[in-house]
Amino acid sequence: MFDRRRFLQTGVATASLPFLPRPAFGSTLEDEHTAWFREAKFGMFIHWGPYSLRSVEASWPIMQPGNWQISEAEYRALPQRFNPVHYDPDHFIDLARTAGQEYMVFTTKHHDGFCMFDSSYTDYKITNTPYKKDIVKQLSDACARRNMKLGFYYSPPDLHHPGFRDTTKLARDNWNGQPERPEWSSYLAYMQLQLTELLTRYGDVRVVWFDGLNHQEKYDGQRFLDLIHKLQPPTLINDRIGLTADYVTPEQFIPKSIPTKDVRMRGADSSIQGEFKGGVPSSADFQLWETCMTINETWAYNIHDTKFKSTQDLVRGLVEVTSRGGNFLLNIGPQPDGLIQPEFQERLQGIGEWMALNGESIYGTTFGPIQGEVAYRTTTKRNDIFVHVFDCPSGPLQIKGIKPKIQSAHMLATGQPITFQQADGEVRLTLPAQAPGKHVHVIRVITS
Ligand code: GLC
Repeated sequence: MFDRRRFLQTGVATASLPFLPRPAFGSTLEDEHTAWFREAKFGMFIHWGPYSLRSVEASWPIMQPGNWQISEAEYRALPQRFNPVHYDPDHFIDLARTAGQEYMVFTTKHHDGFCMFDSSYTDYKITNTPYKKDIVKQLSDACARRNMKLGFYYSPPDLHHPGFRDTTKLARDNWNGQPERPEWSSYLAYMQLQLTELLTRYGDVRVVWFDGLNHQEKYDGQRFLDLIHKLQPPTLINDRIGLTADYVTPEQFIPKSIPTKDVRMRGADSSIQGEFKGGVPSSADFQLWETCMTINETWAYNIHDTKFKSTQDLVRGLVEVTSRGGNFLLNIGPQPDGLIQPEFQERLQGIGEWMALNGESIYGTTFGPIQGEVAYRTTTKRNDIFVHVFDCPSGPLQIKGIKPKIQSAHMLATGQPITFQQADGEVRLTLPAQAPGKHVHVIRVITS
């Protein structure tokens, strides 16, 4: 059975290449560079800030005020009341570990411009709230102590900075930013200073997760990729600053086909949405990707949002993503007092129970050889094919497309052997009458 404790001790392959230059995209070294990310598969996204006080989405209430019952002035005043006295970064890490999540991505600054870290270049920050302490620092210290990989969400749009837009106007009128104004260069300089703070004061930053919204070319992404690569060569960078960088980020959906490198030419969204195209790419053509998703329907804490996905839906989401070679970044929005609401905790716990038995079919795997089936999904690792059964058939499960000779098969969770027949390119697996466990039943098929 999968020994999770051993796995956690040895950890996934950590690409520690601090003295090597950042490898060119598409090179073999690129694979080493992204190895930890590809192995980790499952991460925790955290959207947290003063907006959590009002059960509204992060930043959008001042960008598109029609949809929210809060004025820009009231939104802007929220930091004066932000005091998450129960914040305990170890609790976040415990929860991530319970769920089987191998990394975290935390909102250091959302579009509203409020900084959850003690930036020297703005007063609009956590140390000027009643709470006073640097939240990012506490999290990064705890993550370093506990060997949890940490990434930083950093929004290029910044509705608070006078170089980004004319802040004498309402944010709804110019939230896209005003790169045509001479002040724009002062905003890019501010980004440079803040990213330098984040990459020099908070230990290892495994990911910089930009969220550039519209017209991302105005941020001069290459300048910031170069900066990050210089300050921390191993840091991975997502695709929301006008360049694909290390991985693409479908939001709130799972691509129906395995993403391939041509998304770099065609733009991430157009090529990864749409219908199933079939096929399994070569590893050189595969485009690394990560779906980010909410547990209910909002990123920030919202007491009114009770549309929670079930644990089963979330486990199946994770399997679906993994079967196409992606990562799953599942979001929580902590409460304003720093605690995590029970509905999130229960689901993370439930996913963790499934992962404790079946994690081997997820961690370190890549997209499986058979795609586009309704009843099951596949992942693969070395000579193993993991068949994730969503709908148990009444008779044997028939699978076409497993070419290598099968040595044996068993239920991953229990070790119970599975009888199989392999002939004429087809495999028949006879599942136990009473399939063990919940959500998804995993068969490990060992081939030669
Ligand atoms: C969207 C939203 C933003 C959220 C992000 C997470 O881009 O604008 O609020 O942080 O999705 O992917």
